[in-house]
Amino acid sequence: MNLCVVGTGYVGLVNGAGFAETGHTVVCADVDQEKILSLQAGEIPIFEPGLPALVARNRSSGRLRFTNDVEAAVSDADVIFIAVGTPPRGDGGADLSAVDSVATLVSERATRECILILKSTVPVGTNDRARRLVDNAAQRVHVVSNPEFLKEGSAVADFLRPDRIVIGVLPGDDFARKVMTRLYHPLLLNKDRVVWMRPESAELTKYVANTMLAMRISFMNEVAMLCEQVGADCHEVRHGVGSDVRIGSQFLYAGPGYGGSCFPKDVKALVHTGRDHGLELELASTTDRVNDRHKGVLMRKLRAQLGGDVRGRRVAIWGLAFKPKTDDLRESPALTLIDALLADGAEVVAHDPEAGDAARAHYGDRVHIAESAYAAAEEADALVLVTEWREYQNPDFGRILQALRNPVLLDGRNLWTTYGLCELGFTYEGVGTAVS
Ligand SMILES: NC(=O)c1ccc[n+]([C@@H]2O[C@H](COP(=O)([O-])OP(=O)(O)OC[C@H]3O[C@@H](n4cnc5c(N)ncnc54)[C@H](O)[C@@H]3O)[C@@H](O)[C@H]2O)c1
Repeated sequence: MNLCVVGTGYVGLVNGAGFAETGHTVVCADVDQEKILSLQAGEIPIFEPGLPALVARNRSSGRLRFTNDVEAAVSDADVIFIAVGTPPRGDGGADLSAVDSVATLVSERATRECILILKSTVPVGTNDRARRLVDNAAQRVHVVSNPEFLKEGSAVADFLRPDRIVIGVLPGDDFARKVMTRLYHPLLLNKDRVVWMRPESAELTKYVANTMLAMRISFMNEVAMLCEQVGADCHEVRHGVGSDVRIGSQFLYAGPGYGGSCFPKDVKALVHTGRDHGLELELASTTDRVNDRHKGVLMRKLRAQLGGDVRGRRVAIWGLAFKPKTDDLRESPALTLIDALLADGAEVVAHDPEAGDAARAHYGDRVHIAESAYAAAEEADALVLVTEWREYQNPDFGRILQALRNPVLLDGRNLWTTYGLCELGFTYEGVGTAVS
């Protein structure tokens, strides 16, 4: 089939290259000229493990290409994916302008009966709205909801081995059902993991899944604060609670608060949808509030460690991306900390294995991005670990001790709680663990 993916970001690029890998001819279209030029030149504009090889292989086979000509790309496709951004508006709702503009384009340009798949995360009712936008198209356009569940950092593996595919089709739309089955068949050979449902349920499933995961994190962050007050250890509590099979062990890690391009905006958008329908989703809105407050935890701890004032102090930060194995800075807790430090007159020297360029673009010369983790620690008054990259797991603590001006280690991910760092001469503190 001829596939067109509109929006060539984390989701669109992985899906485009992934479906090309399964044998389809794919064109990835984007309005961002710079991005398309770099893809056409064989560069990958994001860091995602496994993606460069996947893209290169399928480009050289002729199954994958990139274009800025979105109009032409959608006109010639059997299947069109919308994978554009749906960023938060000021009121917390999702900005659907890019989704609407692609649906309108498809309505005007489709030259054959085709499927329009909404992969972007969109509030309930958006598929219906897209269906109305394509209602008068010269060709029949079937609208399908197919929310994305890939995780940055393991997106390629998630695409190739999905644990489930959620598809929302209108009852009776056998054409759409047949095409969707064919599309995902190569990824589900060992077991059919498609969960079919109505489009509204599919739209909501995505938001509910993200909000539930965010809720677990926020709750454990609150529990971590309680642990600090009562002398408990949140690691031990997590083990105890997570070994209950009804609860499970994932997403129970205390830390500096959740970030990323999905959880913060999706929780807010779900709350907004509730309000649109006269419902206050209390748990979801509290999850968001707890996270906003908790994102200040590292700054509060740092202030306390540095005698109440960070003005003129140099602070080293390890890890800028919102999680390891990505270069995505969106809503990262590291940015919250850096913004607070800069506002209070501290100097910030940071390191990240992959997000350094993105951070340079974001902060310009207000933050120094060091070439190595140890260089960032040089002459710093404190070192704060914000993102748990594997390379930070077992550093040379002797070298860090020598580099720091003041031996304060703040471990935002509890990577080093068992390493006896106080005996080595550090003032060490984690999140939700006893201060030693
Ligand atoms: N990033 C994730 O981990 C993830 C996971 C699941 C779902 N999602 C959802 O998928 C969607 C895309 O997320 P992303 O992280 O890939 O976003 P992104 O910002 O990385 O990429 C979006 C791309 O869309 C392009 N674009 C915007 N308007 C366009 C238009 N009118 N025509 C063509 N291209 C246009 C942008 O230039 C950009 O390249 C969002 O709704 C997001 O919530 C993201």
